[in-house]
Amino acid sequence: MRFDILTVVPDLLDSPLNHSILKRARENGIAEIHVHDIRNWSTDRHRKVDDYPFGGDAGMVMQLQPVYDAIATLRSQRDYDEIIYTSPDGERFTQKMANTLSLKKNILVLCGHYKGIDHRVREHLVTREISIGDYVLTGGELAACVLCDAVIRLLPGAMGDETSALTDSFQDNLLAPPVYTRPAEFNGWRVPEVLLSGNPALIDEWQEQQAYERTRRLRPELLQE
Ligand code: ADE
Repeated sequence: MRFDILTVVPDLLDSPLNHSILKRARENGIAEIHVHDIRNWSTDRHRKVDDYPFGGDAGMVMQLQPVYDAIATLRSQRDYDEIIYTSPDGERFTQKMANTLSLKKNILVLCGHYKGIDHRVREHLVTREISIGDYVLTGGELAACVLCDAVIRLLPGAMGDETSALTDSFQDNLLAPPVYTRPAEFNGWRVPEVLLSGNPALIDEWQEQQAYERTRRLRPELLQE
């Protein structure tokens, strides 16, 4: 699977996409991520990519031309299944969406920045707008990292333990049960006895019941979906 990310701040994406599971997935050829600086397509001699909004509001707006040309260049090289714009007014990102996106081949992510982007990009070029939550970030770069992270970890081989992505919170609309590791007792705090019992059926039953109980208490709306 391949991600192309268009941004005006490529450095912001550096660290999150180059460590741990994503780093390994990239090294093993499971995922490719290519980050492109939109300024490379600017025709301005100072590589400017923003301008004042028509109508005289405060803030700057990302211009149509550099984004149009960037998308045109990338599309001339391959077909994209989705051209996603990260924005607080997009569809709310969910585990289901991550699952669906993980089945795609080529995804182009356009990171919003400044006050926003010339609306013609959204009308004519973008196929989908995604928000990672009801709050406003300084730009869509962190949202793009969240999206890549959530999708790439689902790709076969990305995680050491093949089953662990399937037992995540949200995969069955339930929060994950609590987990513990050694020592079984620390500071007088004991791990639940059932986990030390060595009885897989009992442990399964306990984990299911904990998942249900935690969901009911912390995120009851998930049980309604
Ligand atoms: N850009 C700014 N805020 C955002 C959000 N909440 N989700 C996605 N992109 C954003």
